[in-house]
Amino acid sequence: MAVGDFLHRFGVKKPPDCFGLDIGSSAVKAVQLDRTGPAVSLKALGVVELPPGAISEGTIHDLAAVVDAIQHAVSKAGIKTTDAAIGICGRELMIKKLQIPEVPARELPEAVHLEAEHQIPFAIDEVFLDYHVLGQQDRVLELALVAAKKTKVTEYANAVQEAGLSPVVVDVDGFALGNQFEMNAPEETGLVALVDIGATMMKINVVRGGTTLFVRDVPFGGNRYTETIAARLKIPFAQAEAAKLGREGGFALEALAPVRDAVSRELALELQRAFDYFASTAATEQISKMVLAGGTSKLVGLREYLGSTFGVPVEVVKPFEHVQVAPEHAQEVAAAGPSLAVAVGLGLRQPGDSAKR
Ligand SMILES: Nc1ncnc2c1ncn2[C@@H]1O[C@H](COP(=O)(O)OP(=O)(O)OP(=O)(O)O)[C@@H](O)[C@H]1O
Ligand SMILES: [Mg+2]
Repeated sequence: MAVGDFLHRFGVKKPPDCFGLDIGSSAVKAVQLDRTGPAVSLKALGVVELPPGAISEGTIHDLAAVVDAIQHAVSKAGIKTTDAAIGICGRELMIKKLQIPEVPARELPEAVHLEAEHQIPFAIDEVFLDYHVLGQQDRVLELALVAAKKTKVTEYANAVQEAGLSPVVVDVDGFALGNQFEMNAPEETGLVALVDIGATMMKINVVRGGTTLFVRDVPFGGNRYTETIAARLKIPFAQAEAAKLGREGGFALEALAPVRDAVSRELALELQRAFDYFASTAATEQISKMVLAGGTSKLVGLREYLGSTFGVPVEVVKPFEHVQVAPEHAQEVAAAGPSLAVAVGLGLRQPGDSAKR
């Protein structure tokens, strides 16, 4: 079973049913999927924008605005259950591969705990730990260890609770991205870099055949384009955002192009850094394809730019490729498109997961 499949439930009981709640830095997205039929179908969808700065790089700065947006997204979607699967990301989260000598199954939690004390850069009592056995060879177990700062989990869990909901599943955004991809592109067997570029965070998940090999969050997102446009053209953020999206008249696209290219170069450097790190820790194999997600994947020319920089095919994610979408949702799904990838991955967290564990 894939790492991306395993459920991170930090000390809570398994819910009977829940919906995906992606609390992003530009918007809150609620996605409820129905998996009772032969195919996955979209039951409810609600997206509500957040004011700029309410959340940045995985940190909540304006709790009231976030609570308000969560409530609106849920009511807009018409979701009745209060059980939500949320994701966390950022610096206070660490995912690492570990190798430990083989031990009897009942001693494994203790052995992992002991090893984690040496391996993680945080105090052990300040984190929630989770792990998954990846494989076993010559009496050595290979594990994926997940350590999340308790304060980060409670920060997001509190916002959800204040909105009147229960955060029954706490996942990792990068894993949700992988899970979504596994459902939508199960035939994919190559080494694929999934890259979700939101407003302030980039989440990278390198997968092969449904197994996560590497996950990393980088504080870099679409806001970097907007901020750079605002600074260079000396205009307010909101106007720069509209210009970036091609909505604001008065700007020749030629004026924006050099700014866009400069930021895309920075973005590519960040990606290169992450890929270099991955190459130093894992496979000798080359990444064969990149799949972009997040709102910034829609930026004009980005896909082509990354394709020529990295010399690999670059596609944009299709989070609803294998999800049945009723006509009433078609327009919203089309409008939000790739930015719903993490929410779909979170929405897949259902009771059946535990059986696969
Ligand atoms: N057509 C477009 N062209 C360029 N950028 C776009 C487009 N549509 C959306 N964006 C950008 O995508 C970003 C929002 O994407 P997304 O909804 O994935 O972010 P988020 O999940 O809220 O943020 P994060 O994951 O960083 O916390 C914004 O920076 C927005 O400007
Ligand atoms: Mg996001």
